[in-house]
Amino acid sequence: MALWGGRFSQGPEESVFALSRSINFDWRLAPYDLRSSMAHLAILEKNGLIESDDATAILIALKELSAEVAKGEFKPIASDEDVHSALERGLTEKLGEIGGALRAGRSRNDQVTTDLRLFAIDHILEIAMLLTKLQDAILNKSAEYINDPAPGFTHIQHAQPVSFGHELAKHAHAFARDLDRIEDWLTRTSVSSLGAGALAGSSLALDPAFTAENLGFATSFANSIDAVSDRDYVAEALFIYAMIGTHLSRIGEEWTLWSSTEFAWAKVADGYSTGSSIMPQKKNPDMAELARGKSGRLIGNLMSVLTMLKGLPFAYNRDLQEDKEPLFDSIDTLLLVLPAVTGMIATTDFDREKMALAAPTGFSLATEIADYLAKKRVPFSQAHEAAGKCVALCEASELQLHQLTDAQFLHVHPQLDGGVRAVLTVHGALNSRTTLGGTAPALVAVQIKEAQLANAKTGAKIASRMQAFSEMMSA
Ligand code: ARG
Repeated sequence: MALWGGRFSQGPEESVFALSRSINFDWRLAPYDLRSSMAHLAILEKNGLIESDDATAILIALKELSAEVAKGEFKPIASDEDVHSALERGLTEKLGEIGGALRAGRSRNDQVTTDLRLFAIDHILEIAMLLTKLQDAILNKSAEYINDPAPGFTHIQHAQPVSFGHELAKHAHAFARDLDRIEDWLTRTSVSSLGAGALAGSSLALDPAFTAENLGFATSFANSIDAVSDRDYVAEALFIYAMIGTHLSRIGEEWTLWSSTEFAWAKVADGYSTGSSIMPQKKNPDMAELARGKSGRLIGNLMSVLTMLKGLPFAYNRDLQEDKEPLFDSIDTLLLVLPAVTGMIATTDFDREKMALAAPTGFSLATEIADYLAKKRVPFSQAHEAAGKCVALCEASELQLHQLTDAQFLHVHPQLDGGVRAVLTVHGALNSRTTLGGTAPALVAVQIKEAQLANAKTGAKIASRMQAFSEMMSA
C-alpha cells in the first residue's frame, strides 16, 4: 500500500519501485514498528487528537497484528514498499479508513529511526548476554591452567614464560571492554526520535517525552532535525561489533596456530572441528578460522555505514535506508559466531606437558639474569648486556643458561655469581612476576576470580535490562 501518491499522475516505474523497496530486509522491524505505533497512538488519544473509540479499535487491531506477525500469519506482499506501509495496510484491512489515523503527526522519518533504535537495543542486549557466556568459558578454561607454565611470545618468538591461565584470561579483559562499550552505548542511545516528524517537529499537540517514556527511552530528542538524521548509534554499534569481531579473530588465530602439528598445544574437540573431503586424516579448526574470517564483514559493515553517512545533508535522505542491512548482518554474524567460539573454547584441552617443556626454551629466562643483576643495583644497560652475553655463550656451546659454570658467569660480569641459577627456573621466574596484573600464578588466580565476579555482575545487569525491554515490548 502506497503511503504517498496524491500529487503524482502515475505510480513508480517497476525499476524505481524495485530500488525503493526495503521490505525484503526491513520486515524484521515489524514488532518494533507496531510497538512504537502503540506509543504514538497513546499520545494522540491522550491529547484528544483521536476519538477514544477509534483509539481503542486501533489498539486492538495493533495487538492482533502483533500476534499475527509473530505467528507469520500476516506477511508483506509484493506491493508493500516497506515495513511501515505493510503494517498500515494490515491496519486498514482490519479497520478501513481509520487504519490511516496513526499518520497524524508522524512521518516515516521519525518512525523508522525509532524502530531501528529499539531493534538495535534489543539485539545489543542479546549479544551482550552471549558475550558474558563467552567470558564464562574463557575464565573457566583459564582457571584450569593457572599453574601451567607456557612460553609467552612477542613477535611469535619465545619471550618470557607465563602462566597459561594468564595467557588465556587476557581475552576476557578485551571482551570486558566490549561489554563496557555496550553499556556506554546503551546510555547514549536511549533517546527517542518519535515526535520529530519529517524534520521540524509537529504542530499537533504531541509529547515526545511521553512517548519516550512509554517506549522505555531515558529521554527524547532535543533537536528534531538531528533526530531524524542521527545514525551515530548505528555506526557506534557497528564499531563495537567490529571490535568484538577483531577480538574473536585474534582468538581464532591463536587456536589455529596452537592446534597446528608444529605447536600441538591445543586439542580442539571433534564437535568443534571439521574434516577434509580428500585427506581422511585431517581435523581442521574451521570454527577458529571462521571467527577470524568473519571479522572482515564486521569491519566492512562499519565502513559501509560511515561511508554512507559521510557528507550526507542533515534531516532525512533516502541514503539512510542503507543503514539497516549492515547492522542486521553484523548482528546475525555475531549471533552465529559467539556460541560456536564459546563452545570451542569450553571444550578445548591443552597439552600441559608440552607447553611446560617449551616454556624455558629459546632462552626465555634471559631476562631473569638481567633482573638478578638489576636487584644488585647494576645499571640495567650493563645487566642487559651481561644477560645477552650469557645467551651468546650458550648458543656457541649449545648449553642452557643454568648450565653455565660459576667461572663463566663471573667472567661475563663480576657481580654475576652462581646464585643466579636459583632464578633460572620457570617456576622461579613465574612466581617472581608479582607486579599487579603480572603472571605469578597466585596473582593470576586473584585476577581470574575478580574477572569472574565482575562478569557475573554484568550478566545480572544485562538480564534485568532484557527483562525491562521485553516488558516494555509486551506492554
Ligand atoms: N524505508 C525507509 C527507510 O528505511 C523509510 C523512511 C522513508 N522516508 C522517506 N522520506 N522516503 O529509511
